[in-house]
Amino acid sequence: MTAPTRQRVDLGERSYDILVGDDLLASAGRHMAPLLRQPRAIVVTDATVAAIHLAAMERSLADAGIAYDAVVLPPSEQTKDFGHLEKLIARLLDMKVERSTTLIALGGGVVGDLTGFAAAIVLRGIDFVQVPTTLLAQVDSSVGGKTGINMPHGKNLVGSFHQPRLVLADTAVLSTLPRRQLLAGYAEVVKYGVIDRPEFFTWLEGHGMSVIDGDAGARQHAVIESCAAKAAIVAEDEREAGPRALLNLGHTFGHALEAEVGFGDELLHGEAVSIGMVLALDLSVRLNLCPAEDAARLRRHLAAVGLTTGLDCVQGRIWNPQRLVQHMARDKKVSGGWTTFVLVRGIGQAMLSDEVDMTDVEAVLTDSLPA
Ligand code: NAD
Ligand code: GLY
Repeated sequence: MTAPTRQRVDLGERSYDILVGDDLLASAGRHMAPLLRQPRAIVVTDATVAAIHLAAMERSLADAGIAYDAVVLPPSEQTKDFGHLEKLIARLLDMKVERSTTLIALGGGVVGDLTGFAAAIVLRGIDFVQVPTTLLAQVDSSVGGKTGINMPHGKNLVGSFHQPRLVLADTAVLSTLPRRQLLAGYAEVVKYGVIDRPEFFTWLEGHGMSVIDGDAGARQHAVIESCAAKAAIVAEDEREAGPRALLNLGHTFGHALEAEVGFGDELLHGEAVSIGMVLALDLSVRLNLCPAEDAARLRRHLAAVGLTTGLDCVQGRIWNPQRLVQHMARDKKVSGGWTTFVLVRGIGQAMLSDEVDMTDVEAVLTDSLPA
């Protein structure tokens, strides 16, 4: 076992480390112990992850002398709602959670977002640690402190910024992740290359298939580079007053698609982001900002690894561009009636614009409909 790679997220007194490595679950307790305010933690996870990885987490906590309880939630995007948040908080209070108890989010983005939000509000805020088990959570949702839940009105509309004390990304746990979930997470990896890391995008063109197929070195490199990219942006703009919004590349389109299909298995978050990024680049080309070749290059790479790249990739669904535009109007990134879009001048040159005419957006959506 090699030593984990350490990436600092620099946020003053809220700074923390992301550790990326193979077999980190076995030493999780040892890494957490010095940070805990009392030797007690409550692990929050979902039933699928619990069946595969909870025992290893519990062993490592016991080995480090940390007392623990566990709460197991249903594995679904639907779990990220007020009803489950209330039940989770009631369980924590039943377990006599104290202000010095630490929550451990063991799972994907759903568990991480919900647990982080519970940690932000129970007893007016307690510590939590992220142990992300999906690729998406390792490269994105576990880093940066965005926590929250969905509403029938849209994704992540209720939540708070609450930074974890530590992120432990064990790339070995990705070996049990279904390929479809892995691919969905890979979309967020590609996102960093498109935003401001053109060399990383080129590396992904050469090694993306190895990342997907399970090459340990390639996976670690992809997670480390992604975490470094996200840490840099979050350190510059923790609360999304400016450049952090670049991380929403593909999300304005993507969230509209997710809202339309109802946050289910029909379209995973990362799949929606994959299509959303292609649409964002198509929009950039339409607005004469970006060379058409860069949009084609993104589409080629996403398709080469097996990701969804257009509305025609969602079998049996008839999309209505006007309805999708209406969903965008309800997005939390709307300000003064204007939706902020992440556009690009090319691969690695993302920019923000709140001056996009929605008729251009509708035209891009219409052009991407199946013929
Ligand atoms: P998820 O948490 O639903 O996990 C996907 C599925 O994989 C679940 O069924 C889960 O049980 C299973 N799973 C998890 N780890 C596994 C493993 N190692 N082996 C086998 N199965 C495993 O989905 P996700 O894609 O991780 O996260 C999506 C969520 O993340 C969305 O709600 C999205 O809004 C949120 N998100 C948040 C941020 C943020 O900054 N907070 C960023 C991006 C996405
Ligand atoms: N996933 C977008 C962000 O963390 O800001």
